[in-house]
Amino acid sequence: MLHRLAREIPQLGILTTKSIGLYERKGNNEPILARSPEGGILNCVGLSNPGEEASREELASIYPLPEGAFLMVSVFGATAEELVKVAQGLERVCDGIELNFSCPHAEAGLGASIGSSPELSARLTRAVKDSVSVPVSVKLPPIDSIGDVAGACAMAGADAIVAVNTWGPLPDARLSLGRGGLSDLH
Ligand SMILES: Cc1cc2nc3c(=O)[nH]c(=O)nc-3n(C[C@H](O)[C@H](O)[C@H](O)COP(=O)(O)O)c2cc1C
Repeated sequence: MLHRLAREIPQLGILTTKSIGLYERKGNNEPILARSPEGGILNCVGLSNPGEEASREELASIYPLPEGAFLMVSVFGATAEELVKVAQGLERVCDGIELNFSCPHAEAGLGASIGSSPELSARLTRAVKDSVSVPVSVKLPPIDSIGDVAGACAMAGADAIVAVNTWGPLPDARLSLGRGGLSDLH
């Protein structure tokens, strides 16, 4: 899909993958999407992905993307060691690594809380920056103190800040998890 989007819509400058972790994750059971009564979409996908090794093989078959499109690979991990392993495993099949510090419906440690701590976000950013040679961006949650976290990540070497992930999680009984992150409020 990424390859086709790059080929057919050359105006797309950066294409970002779903977030990838070290190991395969099935994510949450359906239903994982619901329309919010106040507008927007709630989701509790749960970081489903095929894992670093399978993702590397798949990405190798589309990289580099046509039309000079920049392939950003989003990664997540619970520890610096895990994040570095995933980032190092994938850096040769992408143009840049995005650190997902902001998934609001993930379990503690898997992105949910990282992006609200300037110290933790900076430490993890530095660990990845020291380990890979491609540009590193940091995706943050929509919180009031986003400026503090973004500043700490920039000081730690982040090449770009991506704002923002979904808001929440908000309760919704239709979702299998009973809650989800809110997006698409434009
Ligand atoms: C179904 C779905 C899956 C998503 N998966 C990811 C993901 O794997 N990694 C990530 O960083 N953000 C993920 N997001 C968040 C979006 O990338 C985006 O940050 C969010 O929807 C807010 O932007 P928007 O309001 O413009 O949609 C997902 C959003 C949706 C709706």
